Formats: sequence, structure tokens, C-alpha cells
Amino acid sequence: MQEFFEFAIGTRVLYKVGLAAELGPVIEELGAQRAFIVTDKGVVGAGLLDPVVAGLRESVEIVGIFDSVPANSSVAKVMEGAAAASAAGADLIVAVGGGSPLDTAKGIRIVLTNGGHLLDYQGYNVIPDQLTPMIAIPTTGGTGSEVTPFAVIRDEDQDLKLSFASRYLVPDIAVLDPLLTRSLPPMLTAATGMDALSHAIETFVSTENSPFSDGLALTAIDLIANHLRDAVQTGSDIEARGEMLIAACMAGMACANSYFGVIHALSHALGGKCHVHHGTANALFMPAGMRFNSVVVPHRYVRIARAMGVNAGGRSDSEVIADGISAVATLAIDCGLPTRLRDVGVSEDVLPELAATALVDGAIFHNPRVATEEELLEILRETW
Ligand SMILES: [Fe+2]
Repeated sequence: MQEFFEFAIGTRVLYKVGLAAELGPVIEELGAQRAFIVTDKGVVGAGLLDPVVAGLRESVEIVGIFDSVPANSSVAKVMEGAAAASAAGADLIVAVGGGSPLDTAKGIRIVLTNGGHLLDYQGYNVIPDQLTPMIAIPTTGGTGSEVTPFAVIRDEDQDLKLSFASRYLVPDIAVLDPLLTRSLPPMLTAATGMDALSHAIETFVSTENSPFSDGLALTAIDLIANHLRDAVQTGSDIEARGEMLIAACMAGMACANSYFGVIHALSHALGGKCHVHHGTANALFMPAGMRFNSVVVPHRYVRIARAMGVNAGGRSDSEVIADGISAVATLAIDCGLPTRLRDVGVSEDVLPELAATALVDGAIFHNPRVATEEELLEILRETW
């Protein structure tokens, strides 16, 4: 039982099929007049921005559409967006997209509000005050960035992913509209869905878990176990799409408060070195990462297994845990994701370097079991 825990949700979450086209009244409550939209070409090309723009126009002037955010955003891109938002006199940032546009928008609001350079605000709790209001509209069921106080932005000069964490980074409003995730292709639906599952599982066993994040994490696991396959197989299944958006948002709230672990540490290392998609990387590492951690918090893994749909009645903990880990691995396979590092072009030679990088990744500090470099290498070898 914890001696102390803290839990906060700073974001107002709104859910409705078709809500993105009806944002006028929501915006009016914020008192903003000049909206600056941050998105990417994929969102625009899929026609997802049209309903958002139509809804916003009822209440605010749209003073800019910054749609050049790349898949892995960068410090330079944030500075470019902040200059454009400032020149346009924006008093509201509306982000539409996956993790990259949402995190870019968070970076833009830091610089738009405080001036200076984005790098001045890197790290934990460096941002001094409230930021320009932000509405986050996710188009993937994955990152949970619409409710987290984190942004990850690549520094192209140092070839590093920089972390920004501050309670002021939390978006003011998250708009969950399943119509916006309908056109997400099966592989991205699968990868982002498994990212959300890894958030829920890592949060639930983290050293910073709390009864509040536990409830969110277990419900998210249950929703993902029951709906990810349908969302992948039938993209137009609005119920499955809606449940996945909700699950990803709940998992985001949980990890915003209780953080990550060894799976994300390895995934960050793999993404940085070998450019494997973040969600795919998490899916790859989940079975071995769960086996590694289950030794120290077995009862937590029994609860994860139950949330995955495993029948625990009259069986030993170790059997139930093994079935829970298999259920996660089977879900990834059913969704068409690779299961081995060698399947995504990773050479065995780079494993020691990945282990060394993961050992000092910030995500690992809240893992329930302290991992040595050799143990990380074992997980990597098991996954290779
Ligand atoms: Fe993640």
C-alpha cells in the first residue's frame, strides 16, 4: 500500500460521434477568437480537417493552418510553427492528428506564450506559467497525448528525442470523435492500439501506480482486448473505433500520472536507432518485458491477465500470468504486427547498443524491477 500518491487530470474530455464538426459552442466557453490549427498532410489528405474547420468557423476566426508537421516532429518545426502562430496573432491552438501534431502543438504553445527558444524549456517543470489554450483532437487511438502533460520532440542537431513535462502542457480540451479514426489504416490502427495497451500495462505495474491510475489502466486493457481486433479488421466499425479512442485516452490519463517502464525504455532505444514505429516497438517488447517484471509483481500480472480476458478460476498464478502474456502476444499477431526484432530489419549486432541506451532512458526509472544492462540484453535477445 502506497504511503503517498498524486493524481491529476487537467483536461476536459468530450466524446461524441461527429463532435469534431460541432465545436463552435465548446470554443465559445474558452473565450478565444483566433484559432491556429496544427496538423499534418495525412490528416488534410484524408479530409479529416474539413469538419473541424467548418465547426470552428462558427465561433472563431481561423488565422492559420500549419499542416507541414512530419511523422517525427522536430525542434525546428516547432519554432517554425510558433513563429507562424505568433505572426497570425493566435489565441487558441487546435491540434488535429496523431502524436506528432499533438506534441508539436504543445511545443508551439510553449514558445508562443513564453517567447525564447523551445530548448529553453526542455526537461521537467521548467515552463513558468499557464499556456495559450489548446484543443487536442486525436485521429489515432494510441498516444493519449490529448490528456498528458508530456511532449516528445526530436532535436535533429543532436539526433535525440527531447522530453518536455509540465502540468501546463496538458491540453484544455480533448475531443474524442470516432469518425476521425475511421480512415486510419489497419497497420497504424494495430500499432497505435498496442501502444495504448503498453501504456496501460506499464502504468499498472509502475512504481508510481495509484488506485486512480489502476482503475483507468484495467478498463483500458479490457477495452483494447475486446475491440482492437475489430478496429483493425473493420475500420468503419464505429463502436470499435470509439472504444479504442476511449481506451487510449484512459491509458494516457493513467500514464500521465504513473509513468512507464522497461517496455518503453527499450522501445525508445529501438525507435531512435532503428526507426521502428513506436507502437510496433512496444508490441514487440511487451511479452518479454512482461515476463521480466512479472517475477516481482505477480499479483498485478494476474489482474492484467484477467483484464485481457483470461479465466483465472482455480489455477495457479503462474499459469494465469503466462496466459495473460500469451493473450497480449496473440492480440499483436491477430492484428498483423511483427513478433520478432529480426522481422523489422533489426540486426543482432545492435542489441548491445540498444541495451546500453535503454538503461539510461527516463522511462526505466519507474519500472517495478531494476534491470541491469545484461538483463535488458536478455530481453532484447528473447525478442530478436
Ligand atoms: Fe507510448
